[in-house]
Order: sequence, then structure tokens, then C-alpha cells
Amino acid sequence: MDWTARPKEGPGSPPGSPEDRALAQARGLVRDSAHIIAFTGAGISAESGIPTYRDADESLWAKYDPEKVVQIDAFLLDPAPFWRFFLDVRYRAVTDARPNPGHTALAEMEAAGRLKAVITQNIDGLHQAAGSRRVIELHGNTRVIGCLDCHGAYSMEEVYLILQKELPPPCPRCGGRLKPEVVFYGEQLPELALAEAAAEIIACDLLIAIGSSLRVYPAAALPEQAKASGARLIIVNKTATPYDHLADGLLRAPAGVVLPALAAAALGRSD
Ligand code: APR
Ligand code: ZN
Repeated sequence: MDWTARPKEGPGSPPGSPEDRALAQARGLVRDSAHIIAFTGAGISAESGIPTYRDADESLWAKYDPEKVVQIDAFLLDPAPFWRFFLDVRYRAVTDARPNPGHTALAEMEAAGRLKAVITQNIDGLHQAAGSRRVIELHGNTRVIGCLDCHGAYSMEEVYLILQKELPPPCPRCGGRLKPEVVFYGEQLPELALAEAAAEIIACDLLIAIGSSLRVYPAAALPEQAKASGARLIIVNKTATPYDHLADGLLRAPAGVVLPALAAAALGRSD
């Protein structure tokens, strides 16, 4: 298992390598918690083949300027750059991707009543595909593509067919401007999702932040808010985040490797 983990040193740190100690510590936190929630970012879907945004050369924002492709004012002026981005990377990645063991572990925890919600920044729908039922999508989703003019609603597949003939795709009903229900830069996050997330943040006694660089607000503030309301915090991320210093458990590890181990602890299994 090629990953480094820095256990939070303290009295009674379990024996073994730093990785083992960090994982044992995180498993203990999971076992001892009653209201666990997960907060996820693009990293949890990386092992499903969906590129992340900013953590490596092949990440999305290394190739596309978010201010051009997913910024609302730019989109309203000219939607073509977004639709080319959608055709080049989004559509294939989201339709071909399948949940990985990280998504499945969270769904298993929820099914056993050991995880109350997944708050996600992701728009790929992989949590729901893995079986998670209470998924709070802070940044919307690509499932529904709506018309800004007549408010018609279409599936991604329907719009993909229109895109084969015309870019940007006109609304089939009124010829107007189509836009997915994804939150673009410059747009407000969905109020209901924010309110549901805030309620979970207050109620939880453990938040597991997974696969997020924790740099995009207001979502990135949620782990700190959970800590401030008395919860414990586990961060599972392959690289450092600005909130590592707040973590009670810190695993610099692939989500697909570590989450099954945390799920086993939650379900009282020793594996
Ligand atoms: N397991 C765990 N962590 C991983 C893995 C993995 N297999 N692969 C990558 N990571 C980590 C990276 O180290 C990185 O820190 O996941 C993190 C992904 O960070 P970002 O690419 O910034 O994605 P995210 O935090 O979800 O971005 C937030 O930014 O552009 C917006 O709307 C977009 O929702 C997105 C938001
Ligand atoms: Zn329309």
C-alpha cells in the first residue's frame, strides 16, 4: 500500500508503521462515533477514471480555464466553450464511470445505519449509483439539463444527441439556451442543499472529508464548521489540505483503499 499517513501523535498511539497507526486511529474514531457524515470531492471519483480539478498535470483546470468554461457570466455571453468542454471531457467521463470501492464503502455504511449522509461537491452521480440514498449535492448535477428560457428539462443523453448536430445545443422546444443544473462559478449554491448540509454539520459527531483539496468555498468551510460544533474530523486525501492541522485522523491515501477499511470498522468487522 503505497501511501504515507501521518498519525496524530499522542498517548496510546497504536503500534506498527505510521500508516497502520493512522488507519487504526481512524478506525477507532469511526467505531466510537454515532452520527457520521462524509464530505466528498473529486478525489473520491478519481479511481473511477474521472479527472480531478487541480491536483495533477492531467487535472481539468490544468487544461481548461474554469473562468472561461464554467463561469456563469462567460457562459451567458458565449456558451460554446462550456459545451466543447462538456463534449471533450465531461460527458464521456460521467457516462463511462462506475462507482469504485470508496463510493461503495460509504453506501454500505449508510445501509447499515452507520453513515447519515454524504455531502458532495461532485456532480457525477456516482454516490447514488453506488447505492447511497441521502446525498446532498452542493454543486448540483449533470443529470438534468434545463432551458434558461422556457424551463424545459432534458437528460444528458438527449442533449448529447443534439450536440452531435449543433453546438451550443438549442432547446428542442423553444430554441433557447440549455445549461446543466451544475453550479457555475459566480452562481449561488442551492439553498436547500446548503441548509441540509448545515444541519448535518451541526448534528454530526464525526465528519470524514474525502478527496477534496478543500479550497473552494463555501463548501470547503464545512470541515472546519463541523470541528467548531464539536465533531471530530478525519481527512482522507492524497495530498495536503489547508485543514490537515484540524484533523483528528489524517490519511494521505487513496479513498478506494482506505474507505473499505473504515467501513469495516463502522460495521464492527475486523477486516
Ligand atoms: N483518493 C483520495 N484523494 C485523492 C485521490 C484518491 N484516489 N485522487 C486525488 N485525490 C485528491 C487530490 O490530492 C486533491 O487534493 O483529491 C483532491 C481533489 O481536489 P480538487 O481537484 O480540487 O477537487 P475538489 O476539492 O472536489 O474541487 C472542489 O472545485 O472547480 C470546483 O466545482 C468544482 O466541485 C469542484 C470544486
Ligand atoms: Zn426552451
